[in-house]
Amino acid sequence: MIVGIDPPDDAAVWKIDDSRSIVVTTDFFTPVVDEPYDYGAIAAANSLSDIYAMGANPFLALNIAAFPPQLPAEFLGEIIRGAAEKAKEAGVVVAGGHTIQDKEPKFGLVVIGMIDTKNLLTKAAVRPEDLLILTKPLGIGVTTTANKAEKAKIEDIQEAKLWMQTLNKLPSQIAVQLGLKAATDITGFSLLGHAYEMASTSNVEIVFTSKNIPFLSGARQYGEKWYFAGGAADNQLFYKKYVDFSREIDEVMEMLLFDPQTSGGLLIACPPLKIQEFETTANRLRMPYWIIGQAFNGQGLKII
Ligand code: CO
Ligand code: CO
Repeated sequence: MIVGIDPPDDAAVWKIDDSRSIVVTTDFFTPVVDEPYDYGAIAAANSLSDIYAMGANPFLALNIAAFPPQLPAEFLGEIIRGAAEKAKEAGVVVAGGHTIQDKEPKFGLVVIGMIDTKNLLTKAAVRPEDLLILTKPLGIGVTTTANKAEKAKIEDIQEAKLWMQTLNKLPSQIAVQLGLKAATDITGFSLLGHAYEMASTSNVEIVFTSKNIPFLSGARQYGEKWYFAGGAADNQLFYKKYVDFSREIDEVMEMLLFDPQTSGGLLIACPPLKIQEFETTANRLRMPYWIIGQAFNGQGLKII
């Protein structure tokens, strides 16, 4: 094992020969949307994300499902179909899996990927001066929570679903192609939780500029009505001590930065010398991205 739990990273990495490694991860969760097909596709994109966060190519997956016996069988079929089609888009074969009975549905994938070991993207490789790039807007947690309360606008939940189903494949491939070294994906621990893991394992300070951070259309509005999931308060409780918020950052903005994401984007570190090449490549491939911060000598996080 060359990367794993110490320091923690997005997936386990197992060296198989002088040049290549296998990357393995799993993730599963309860439904985030009402439609079973979309739930399956989102769960698959989310499970694949940790492989992309390492810079690897996923190729094989297994379903993990828990399902209440009273729910119609078509539901499970639709979940599995959504996941299989998303896996196919990623070039991944789903070779079976396992289902058990449980009160609340749960679904996700075990995913195996392959990488040229020298191309690994880790959390611990951010260097001072690196720019921090985010590839999906935040606010997925607060928008899906508002949706569960039946208070979200249909176009807002559609927007969130589109982003959640977007694979992190392209930003991962661009990062590897440009020889970048550090990335992670933004999921349950929020932008600040995951960024703190990068800052602490890389021994740098990361400074985010709040006006450059992208949010879903309804995020601010749902935040003002406090549709935050319990996870946002947990993240705040755990990570706030590592974050220096400038005085202009209001309570809602702070919570939005602690909002847990489902299938969020990649956070990629890019040296200033390579940023123009990154932007040119991303624009040519029509890949959305936002430059939201920079690393410096120091420690912890700062929001200005
Ligand atoms: Co991850
Ligand atoms: Co994960």
